[in-house]
Amino acid sequence: MKLSADQIKSFKELGYVFIENVFDADEVRKMNDELPKMYSLDREEVQKEKDGKAIRTVFAAHTLSNVYSDLSRHPRIVKPAMQLLGGEVYIHQFKINAKEAFDGDLWQWHQDYGTWKNDDEMPEGLALNVGLFLDDVTQFNGPLNFIPRSHREGYIEAKHDVTTTSYPLWTINNETISKLVDKGGIIAPEGKAGSMIIFDSTLVHGSPSNMSPWNRTIVYISLNRTSNYIRKFSRPDYIAHRDFTPITCVEDSCFK
Ligand code: SIN
Ligand code: MN
Repeated sequence: MKLSADQIKSFKELGYVFIENVFDADEVRKMNDELPKMYSLDREEVQKEKDGKAIRTVFAAHTLSNVYSDLSRHPRIVKPAMQLLGGEVYIHQFKINAKEAFDGDLWQWHQDYGTWKNDDEMPEGLALNVGLFLDDVTQFNGPLNFIPRSHREGYIEAKHDVTTTSYPLWTINNETISKLVDKGGIIAPEGKAGSMIIFDSTLVHGSPSNMSPWNRTIVYISLNRTSNYIRKFSRPDYIAHRDFTPITCVEDSCFK
């Protein structure tokens, strides 16, 4: 899959590009079928919400399932990332955020690069996220909120929040968010399962909790330029990977 000039322009100018129908219903079903098995694992990669019951995140899912291993090397994920970042990439992080019906908690306003710089000493924001929807995402089930163009600010000062949710995150204060929203507004892309949002590691985002009866599962593949590998190994390997080998792709038809 090759991004068009307009899609590249969207990523550069707005900080994201949203693409629908990237994976079809059968392919998405194969990915969803893997979830119950992983959610039931008693492993540190499988992290719960504050209630200790609902699944929040499965880290390193590509090491726990062959389907997700293939997804982490899929050309529809990797090639656009190489195009946008201008060269070889490796997997910095791979996670599934469940955002379960009724119980899925919020994600505070942040830049992913805030955490990757402060915790992992990633030298530059030469990284991006590919977010693949495994459920239909609507205004009701806790969609991602983005502040368009906020990536143009570069790294924004952040504070380590270890209390709001079950997961520690470097978050941005309300005053800064208000100023950024005055300039750029907020968007919340909605779309069918199989849609994909690619966003810059410095784009400010967050998401509200999910009080709807519908799950909002999204897989995030965080890809980093190989030259921009992390310098500090303070977090577990399953959260911030240390294998900086450039990804070699699988066949596009691997889920058929
Ligand atoms: C994240 O920003 O890392 C996750 C946000 C979400 O899944 O809603
Ligand atoms: Mn994030």
